[in-house]
Amino acid sequence: MGKDTLSVTDNRTGQQFEIPIEDGSVRAMEFRQMKVDDDDFGLLTYDPAFTNTASCRSAVTYLDGEKGILRYRGYPIEQLAEKSNYLEVAYLLTHGELPTRAEYVKWEHDITIHTFIHENAKKFMEGFQYDAHPMGMLVSTVGALSTFYPEAKEIYDEEVRQLEIKRLIAKMPTLAAFAYRHSLGQPYVYPDNDLSFSGNLLNMLYKMSEAKYNPDPVLERALDVLFILHADHEQNCSANAMRAVGSSQVDPYSAIAAACAALYGPLHGGANEAVLRMLNEIGDVKEIPGFIKRVKDGEGLLFGFGHRVYKNFDPRALIIKKLAYQVFEVTGRNPLLDIALELERIALEDEYFIERKLYPNVDFYSGIIYQSMGFPVTMFPVLFAIPRTAGWVAMLDDAAQKIARPRQVYIGAEQRDFLSLAKRNSTGG
Ligand code: SDX
Repeated sequence: MGKDTLSVTDNRTGQQFEIPIEDGSVRAMEFRQMKVDDDDFGLLTYDPAFTNTASCRSAVTYLDGEKGILRYRGYPIEQLAEKSNYLEVAYLLTHGELPTRAEYVKWEHDITIHTFIHENAKKFMEGFQYDAHPMGMLVSTVGALSTFYPEAKEIYDEEVRQLEIKRLIAKMPTLAAFAYRHSLGQPYVYPDNDLSFSGNLLNMLYKMSEAKYNPDPVLERALDVLFILHADHEQNCSANAMRAVGSSQVDPYSAIAAACAALYGPLHGGANEAVLRMLNEIGDVKEIPGFIKRVKDGEGLLFGFGHRVYKNFDPRALIIKKLAYQVFEVTGRNPLLDIALELERIALEDEYFIERKLYPNVDFYSGIIYQSMGFPVTMFPVLFAIPRTAGWVAMLDDAAQKIARPRQVYIGAEQRDFLSLAKRNSTGG
């Protein structure tokens, strides 16, 4: 193989350039030297939605979209889902290594003692309509936490940063559960420090008048596995929002609020909610061909299908599909599963979806499990945001990061002089 460089000839000037290739990439700034004259700003690279642009160098998560590979800090997601738990994975993502026993015990203790939120945050929540979407409540209340912890602005203080990471991972389930209970008009349930991370969330969501909530172990484990699968996914839309907002050196609570807002969208973390609405809209297996036709006619999306990176299969979807059957052992089979399975079967045989490389993604089956566990569809994106907090905070310290400020290709009007209103005609301009 030849040198790790790109030889570029600018045919406008005949100039030739040698651009270094590093880790399969070239630096966009190398193209700025390519000018037609001294007044020329230099060449920009144009890549809306960053379809082929790396925004950072990261050691956290590795994806291979063609091979359906997902690894957190080098560990295959299949092994973590089978052998680890969410808190251990959150430690791995944020620290770079699996914890020793002593490190895990301290980590679990530190997270557990930070699950409470300030009582005033409850009053903040009371301001929402009873039927407010819990994701809208989460976006707002996690941002509001920045006002309870002003010291979080000291983002270069390592001790402060570590404390805020623990607070965020610990408090997201509490905010989520309080939002859920608010939407039902039920009293808030405080964290129970005797329970696991996922067991405590089930406690805060579902405890009623019993003295002690005992989570079903199968559902507790299923939720924890779902949290492992949703913990990170490299530079997805919400991670990009987190990094862009965080690059202004704002506190992590405000940056996480931006990440939650990005995740809320139906093309991203809101897709699991959109999948359930889609399956309910289809309603019956015999309606699937008509629905597929409407999608192919461009009248809508097959939510839960397609991915910017995975072009064969989303490894998380395979694991979640198996998990669904374990949950149904406890909850009973969700009738929507039959529609989902038939929809998947038909889509995977249809040329429209095959040529576009559209396969089930993480959101296609997760919503069916969440619904079977009793969660309303509005809680689904919230259940995505809780575990993804670990991934969002895993890259808080990136030395190469400067304030994110993209360029643009200007295609607007050239300079023109102002026209007084009297001189403008009715069509303006
Ligand atoms: C997540 O990035 C991540 O890592 C995200 C995530 C994570 O863990 O953070 O994995 C989580 O967000 C999963 C994705 C959940 N979203 C959905 O399920 C919504 C449905 N999917 C699509 O919106 C879409 O597939 C995206 C947004 C996921 C990916 O879109 P891309 O990469 O921008 O691809 P595209 O929109 O350019 O689509 C290519 C073609 C288009 O058709 P043509 O214009 O070429 O004719 O495929 C079509 C699209 O119209 N297409 C779909 C489709 N997805 C893409 N057509 C029907 N149904 C779909 N779901």
